[in-house]
Amino acid sequence: MAIDGMWVPETAEIGANPYLIHRNKDMFGEDVGVYRPERWLENPERTHLMDRYDFVWGYGSRKCVGKNIALMDGQKFVLQVYQIHSYTITQVLTVIALP
Ligand code: HEM
Repeated sequence: MAIDGMWVPETAEIGANPYLIHRNKDMFGEDVGVYRPERWLENPERTHLMDRYDFVWGYGSRKCVGKNIALMDGQKFVLQVYQIHSYTITQVLTVIALP
């Protein structure tokens, strides 16, 4: 098999670095380094692509089996925090990740 022009034998184990995968401009857009969660809501085709290569939970047969429970927990946590406290936005910051 050839990857990017380099011959890789069949028995080779290949790893992928999640940090780099999540910064691929073809998948996540030219502004991949900018914290802009709304990118997930703009274009269904891109959302599908980003979802497909979301490497946070691993990939393939050993993918995290707790993904759905962890996502539910995260959503419940945010809702409960807002039920207990109230917040006011006083300043909007733009967060840019370093390359
Ligand atoms: C934010 C929360 C979590 C993240 C980011 C996360 C991420 C991951 C990642 C990256 C893997 C390795 C996948 C691979 O080897 O390709 C994994 C495996 C696993 N996770 Fe999670 N996980 C989370 C929460 C949980 C929870 C809540 C549970 C259980 C209730 C769980 C159970 C497991 C198990 C059992 C595996 C091993 C799956 C296997 O090897 O077949 N995880 N997780």
